Amino acid sequence: MTLFSYVEFCLYEALDDMTNFQRTYSIGEVEIDGAAIYHTTGLRERRDHCTLFGCTREPTGFDTNRDVFVGVHNGLQEAAVPLAGRAFNSVAHGWNPVGSHQLDLRLEPGEEETFAFVLALLEQPGPTVDRAAGHALLARYAEPGAVWTAFDALRERWRVLLDGLQVDCPDTLVRRMLNTWNQSQVIATFNLSRSASLWESGIGRGMGFRDSNQDLLGCVHLVPERARQRLLDLAATQLSDGTCFHQYQPLTKKGNAEIGGGFNDDQLWLVVSTCAYIKETGDASILAEPVGYADVPGSRDDLLHHLETSIAFTLANRGKHGLPLIGHADWNDCLNLNCFSTDPDESFQTAGDVEGSRAESAMIAGLFLYAARELARLYTHLDRPEDEARLLAAYDEMLAAVEAEAWDGAWYLRAFDAAGSPVGSHVCDEGRIFVESQAWCVLGGAGAENGRARRALESVQELLAKEDGVVLVQPAYTRYHPELGEITSYPPGYKENGGVFCHTNPWITLCWCLLGEGDRALDSYLAICPATRESRIETYRSEPYAFAQMIAGPDAATPGEAKNSWLTGTAAWALVALSQGILGIRPDYGGLRVDPCIPPGWDSFHVTRRFRGVVYEIGVRNPRHVSGGVHGLTVDGREVFGNLVPAGAVGSVVHVDVELGG
Ligand code: BGC
Ligand code: NOJ
Repeated sequence: MTLFSYVEFCLYEALDDMTNFQRTYSIGEVEIDGAAIYHTTGLRERRDHCTLFGCTREPTGFDTNRDVFVGVHNGLQEAAVPLAGRAFNSVAHGWNPVGSHQLDLRLEPGEEETFAFVLALLEQPGPTVDRAAGHALLARYAEPGAVWTAFDALRERWRVLLDGLQVDCPDTLVRRMLNTWNQSQVIATFNLSRSASLWESGIGRGMGFRDSNQDLLGCVHLVPERARQRLLDLAATQLSDGTCFHQYQPLTKKGNAEIGGGFNDDQLWLVVSTCAYIKETGDASILAEPVGYADVPGSRDDLLHHLETSIAFTLANRGKHGLPLIGHADWNDCLNLNCFSTDPDESFQTAGDVEGSRAESAMIAGLFLYAARELARLYTHLDRPEDEARLLAAYDEMLAAVEAEAWDGAWYLRAFDAAGSPVGSHVCDEGRIFVESQAWCVLGGAGAENGRARRALESVQELLAKEDGVVLVQPAYTRYHPELGEITSYPPGYKENGGVFCHTNPWITLCWCLLGEGDRALDSYLAICPATRESRIETYRSEPYAFAQMIAGPDAATPGEAKNSWLTGTAAWALVALSQGILGIRPDYGGLRVDPCIPPGWDSFHVTRRFRGVVYEIGVRNPRHVSGGVHGLTVDGREVFGNLVPAGAVGSVVHVDVELGG
């Protein structure tokens, strides 16, 4: 048997690699040393690393020139080298460097042979390849069992990480998602934000400000130290007036000048994520960390003041209905109420003039309610009653504006456009109801006293909840509306224009939890859950274990088809909705709260939760078959009043027994 390996090397500069062929086709260099193929482009001058593609078995040939391996007019399915049955030992000088080994194997019946391919980035002190380092690396993985040992170590690292949150409950899919897949996806979104994947080319957006703050909510329990640093990095891209760079580059940590700021929800997410971090870790010292403002070189302020600057920005930028000005867009990047674009070559994300514009967002109003209340609660915890009262007064003022101006009769309006006309209202011919303002007004506490929260959620259920999840808007826009922007550029049923924009669905799950509706909460969790798509995979067409950004809605030509899997805020919010909403295991300043909202049909469930250095084994029994309400709670056998489990001794295992029943 003749076996050929094959990898294609990128030339380290992604954008240049895809566009600047007049240069890149002349710079490629490789070096071959037996089984070690080195990709050395740039090493002679400024680069301090090269790539090694090696094999632990001696090859009988190699190739490094793509045209030779594939053949000039062939495709990979009929590559020239495997067709010929032998390597040509080509050495790439420019063009597209690749790495390929030829291995001639002879196996008798039942015989086995093990060898490994190693792909590595080698740091290089000098301009010539350190062949000894390459040899040593290959020798390491040539040891019998070495690859498996490394793989086991990796597996063990993940096991320890994921063991910090494990559930045993009657629903197999819930178990599988929470225990493994959802937790690994939140690490991916935390690491990569929306920068590099099949869907995100790796050369554009970098770390989104609102995205990274939300991603952090899902994994602060997994990587608390890294979350701390991330918060400080994010805060350092805030400007002194409270706005933020919408994105920053992960390597330089500098804001993206091309897109700039002006997305008027951004800064509020920093409040939400910082509070979540402190509740998880108990580490309020982060609030005193010095962080500058991106527009004032050498400036220093503490993180707490950044949060205040965020709140102040929203308060200072309100429109005539008392609701926050939307700027370029709010969470819905495609609701561009100040863009009015007629030029197909300009980006909706940057075009238009937001200065002086009066378009307002009810979604930001709801998010403000949520953030202001979070900050007020933080002040309670810090024992600063005057600051708490100040925040609550701001909360009340915004709540009054929401209830007076943003209620449409059966749901919350989405916005007022630049001309002051309502968006997401029964008076509109298309786009009459949006999900985001229902979610955030309700999560912010609007409608709690006057029944509107429940009414708004019933409207969501009636008008937006479809077979594949809650769609973002109905009716979807059928024509381009320059006064609304990019949302109306998508065909009906896709993306923000009436697709199931999955990110918003766990918000609705959390709303159902607020209303105590356990069955609805779980149904809404399962509606977008990838694990439920195994039987419909031909339609879903995406990984049945990774949340996708979007599932095409019923108005689309391909309803039920998912796109943009992996890098989506859905991952973090789905984990929060399931673990903190449905299972109700919620970090709080004073300890771990147990406040489930489960389907009444569940008899019991068990959660293992690592929290501030203690492992809590939490058993929840449901003998009365209710959704929630704690009837009795014991901690290591001792009765505790209420639903807050006080902190245990670091390093200990604490047993919590909960009986539901109000
Ligand atoms: C997408 C949005 C995205 C925005 C910013 C739009 O085309 O539909 O989901 O947030 O671009 O990149
Ligand atoms: C994806 C973007 O990354 C996110 O920031 C935005 O909130 C959603 N799309 C909705 O437009």
